[in-house]
Amino acid sequence: MTSHQPLPAFPDGFLWGVSTSAFQIEGAQEEDGRGPSAWDAFVRRPGRIKDGSDASVTTDHYHRWPEDVALLRELGVGAYRFSISWPRVLPSGSGQVNAPGLDFYDRLVDTLCEAGIQPAPTLFHWDTPLALEERGGWLRRETAQRFADYADTVAARLGDRVAHWITLNEPAEVTLLGYGLGVHAPGRQLLFDALPAAHHQLLGHGLALRALRARGARSIGIANSHGPVQPLSGSAADTGAAELYDTLSNRLFADPLLLGRYPDPELAALLPGPVEEDLKAISEPLDWYGVNYYQPTVAGAAGSAGADGSGGSGGGFAGIHLPDGLPFALHETPGRERTGFGWAVVPEGLTETLRTLRERYGERLPPVMITENGCAYPDRTRDTRRIAFLDAHLRALHTALAEGIDVRGYFVWSLLDNFEWAEGCTQRFGLVHVDYATLERTPKDSFHWLRDALRGSGGGV
Ligand code: NOJ
Repeated sequence: MTSHQPLPAFPDGFLWGVSTSAFQIEGAQEEDGRGPSAWDAFVRRPGRIKDGSDASVTTDHYHRWPEDVALLRELGVGAYRFSISWPRVLPSGSGQVNAPGLDFYDRLVDTLCEAGIQPAPTLFHWDTPLALEERGGWLRRETAQRFADYADTVAARLGDRVAHWITLNEPAEVTLLGYGLGVHAPGRQLLFDALPAAHHQLLGHGLALRALRARGARSIGIANSHGPVQPLSGSAADTGAAELYDTLSNRLFADPLLLGRYPDPELAALLPGPVEEDLKAISEPLDWYGVNYYQPTVAGAAGSAGADGSGGSGGGFAGIHLPDGLPFALHETPGRERTGFGWAVVPEGLTETLRTLRERYGERLPPVMITENGCAYPDRTRDTRRIAFLDAHLRALHTALAEGIDVRGYFVWSLLDNFEWAEGCTQRFGLVHVDYATLERTPKDSFHWLRDALRGSGGGV
């Protein structure tokens, strides 16, 4: 799949970056006054994390961040997407600010600026303060307001230097995996009763966006997961199931943000609070829309058997087994090469995702940033498959640009190998290898490949 052709030229000013998140890289969970998060509690529950690892050290970025900024500089990216740990800044989620926590991000932002790298922090990448989770977390409306207050606190301190803000990361996964299925923190298995968590995250986004604007922020986006959903067959049952899954995974989050309404009145009826009023905050204009793309999904009717023999509600989806009782089953995309994680490699799914966004939202779609794209492979440093993956996805992205879709940036997930949630340290997404015993960082071949591509045209590929 690797092409030896140079990548096509991207527009001047196209933003190249890499992404990470606090819980996945920082470690130092008990240092300098950080409070516990819902994930701290979740990883301690027996059997929840594949290899039993707990992210208490992970890459130790909290102590090694200067080395990591040096890697970013060496890579030559224009921006770095990291996340701010809410419980490091506000140990109980609200109230007293933990000064050393905020100082940590202040130093990081300063150092990035000195290196000529635009800081692009995500305010919420899944580490809800435990004190708030114990009161219901995102199932409770109050959490949305606490999130906006936290956004205000961070913007007051960092707003003069932050280039791009990301409010939330993948609220769909938090809702589905965290509150619906219980395979991520907080480990609730509420199925459709998890929907209030979707609404409250979206409301939190809208209120935080207003707080950031009031502090003068000029580049605000959100990072939503998106991917094409194909029906398993042309049968009415399978197409209906695929449509429902598409609604839940793609439209439930994009429609309110971009159209100011929920995709389905039946779903909207399950949501709490003054939903119509909330939608006004939720649909405040974004400066750009962030897309995390990994792979498409094949969905079929509940109980359907996939081409690969997977089927029924136990059909595999990135290792996640769906419980009985859901009105759809998820299947592997057939006939595709797979990453080390078992995810299908479908670069044209990125083009299709962008085309669908443009078709669905037209003029309402702001410029897009690819806030995450990447792959897990176990290779230590000879990661030719990652190079092939990135090369193919960048070509697919270029096709979308050539069709006139306004994409302004692309961020690789991830700079470093890190703690991959329920998979623990078993899945390595980094451009840089991390030895978890010594914490030594070693750039992989893909790091050098990307560095050379960026250098090739003065940072523009
Ligand atoms: C999306 C999430 O934002 C990130 O935290 C995760 O590591 C990657 N996907 C890979 O699963």
